[in-house]
Amino acid sequence: MRLVWQVSVQSQLLIPSARANKFWHSPSREKIFSSSGEASLKQRAAAKGITYGAATNAFTLKTKPDFTAKFIQECGVLVPEMELKWESLRPSPDKFFFDDGDWLAEFARTNNMRFRGHTLVWNQGLPKWFKETINPQNAENFFLEHIKTVTKHYAGKVNSWDVVNEAIAPYEGRKDYLRKTAWLEFLGSDYIELAFRTAAEADPKALLVYNEGFLEHDLRSHDITRETTLKLLQNLKSKGVPIGALGIQGHLTGHVDLYNSQKLRSFLSDVANLGLKIIITEMDVRDQELPLDTNIRDGIVASYYEKFLSIVLDEKAVIEVSTWGLSDKSTWLTSFAGRPDGMPVRPLPLDENLQPKQAWNAIAKAFDSAPTR
Ligand code: XIL
Repeated sequence: MRLVWQVSVQSQLLIPSARANKFWHSPSREKIFSSSGEASLKQRAAAKGITYGAATNAFTLKTKPDFTAKFIQECGVLVPEMELKWESLRPSPDKFFFDDGDWLAEFARTNNMRFRGHTLVWNQGLPKWFKETINPQNAENFFLEHIKTVTKHYAGKVNSWDVVNEAIAPYEGRKDYLRKTAWLEFLGSDYIELAFRTAAEADPKALLVYNEGFLEHDLRSHDITRETTLKLLQNLKSKGVPIGALGIQGHLTGHVDLYNSQKLRSFLSDVANLGLKIIITEMDVRDQELPLDTNIRDGIVASYYEKFLSIVLDEKAVIEVSTWGLSDKSTWLTSFAGRPDGMPVRPLPLDENLQPKQAWNAIAKAFDSAPTR
């Protein structure tokens, strides 16, 4: 029997089914996703007026020369995976630590890359002292001081800032679907607006981004996140808040049936019609539940990239795409969404030996087919 897999939309778990699916079965074991030419992802993207890049960290770039060479070859934008989060920048309540972030900014500059700031306001990635230190009396001061100091420090070096990350959580019980965070509790829902206004004042030139996950799939929770995000963006724009773009994380999962191109397209065009740019900020594909066979698995992962990018790149407001990592050797999914069989995950364009996979081919092909900006 040809074993193919199908997703249960409720649980997001993959369950076996005998349904044929062209993406999922490759009897000849040949690569389904091929690409031609020698051009790198950054060159293919640039040919269409798009910037391609990836998240990484200073430690890897300093210690793995082969990886670093590939990163320079493939990437036109660098996203610090950790270095600009509170937990890295704030060793104690009264200190800022910029060394690693500065090193990355300089690395990006010398290698002709754009540099993304990730992220000023998030409910995760906080230092240990945060919870016991922040209270209703000092919250506003900490919030403003952090945003001002960090954006000022990187003014002229960061091209785009994820000012607020993941402020929406459909199932936490609030009617407005806002995530219950310390900032929401202490500053009220206007904390989002305040963050953008403060960042713009300190660095008027950076593109200011609202970054959100759970926007990609045809699931109820994603419907709610899309609707809530759109309302939030409309509200910010109507008040003249200095926001320039929406970041769509693009952590892909599930099954091809979870891609509803109509819903995604209309969401993208609604965002674009507000005069906003769109950045795909953290793309990867979770392969936790996929068949172990490397060739089959790589083909399925590639098919998710292909499906998603063929939709989003059609929208000309999408100007930049980053994957959350470049090589399978270093990906947050190893610990966050490891495989039950204990085998390594394969979510990124390059394998653990820095060789291009079908995912790389699918991304290359998507850039080649994208309309020019
Ligand atoms: C992740 C990093 O990759 C991990 O190393 C870290 O332990 C947790 O954060 N959405 C985001 C990113 O906005 O900042 C997260 O990065 C992945 C999910």
